[in-house]
Amino acid sequence: MKVVAGSRSRRLSRELARVLGVKLVEVDAHPFPDGEKYVRLLDGVEGEDVVLVQTTRPDDAIVELFLLQDAVREAGAESVITVVPYYGYGRQDKRFNEGEAISARALARRIQLDSDGFITVDIHSEHILGWFSIPSVEVSGAPAVAEYLKGLDVDVVVAPDRGSLHRAGAVAEKLGVEFDFLEKRRIDERTVEITPKELDVEGKKVAIVDDIISTGGTVIEATRQMKAAGVAAVYAVCTHGIFAANALERMAGLVDWVASSDTIESEKTAFTVADLIAEGISLLQEQLR
Ligand code: R5P
Repeated sequence: MKVVAGSRSRRLSRELARVLGVKLVEVDAHPFPDGEKYVRLLDGVEGEDVVLVQTTRPDDAIVELFLLQDAVREAGAESVITVVPYYGYGRQDKRFNEGEAISARALARRIQLDSDGFITVDIHSEHILGWFSIPSVEVSGAPAVAEYLKGLDVDVVVAPDRGSLHRAGAVAEKLGVEFDFLEKRRIDERTVEITPKELDVEGKKVAIVDDIISTGGTVIEATRQMKAAGVAAVYAVCTHGIFAANALERMAGLVDWVASSDTIESEKTAFTVADLIAEGISLLQEQLR
């Protein structure tokens, strides 16, 4: 087995190769002068079971992913497991308005064309996996979040909305602390409203746990409520740190600590999901046998 490191997932690929104890194949991926992508594997994969890792951000990572799948097949790999640590476009998983694409499905259809198996982490909705006709595994990032939070001495875990309740509960259980949740309503792409709620957080260190921090609107509104309730500190920890629209600048000075996993690599990447993906690969291999 060899791990092929997509250029937007180099750190995670390195970790994964280390955990699996297999060789890492680096990639030359750079733009031509006209902006089109050039890719080349820097080591052979003939006859190998390949694990190709590439996230979906920014958008050009998706083109690179398709080109790398082709390169791996072309180089004679025995099998290809595609690991997409952050599955972008997952939130457009249905047609909300006439004329829209079902973007999450469009991506699924194309990823599986050149792959024998598929792994992702904390996908927005499970039904996206139903669009894959190859064996697919979704790995939960919650154990990695919990492991990271062990070092931050948290008293309470809070889910910023009902959708994150299960994740926050799992993290709190692993930490042996209480958990609670807030009610969120999304007004538009950048604005959310959180219903005021009495939370027992005075003087406590709270971790807001979510799958994604995108614009930061959810974390900011949740933090404001908790600061008003006299919280000692707020840590915002997520699996996928998108940090769009100046999210980090807007959270700075309000949120005490922001961290994400390496499903999207950024200055806030503080922990890895490599061990969890390695477990996912074992599960997938059983299905592929
Ligand atoms: C929503 O379904 C997700 O779990 C996140 O809460 C959301 O994507 C966060 O977005 P933002 O940071 O833009 O509020």
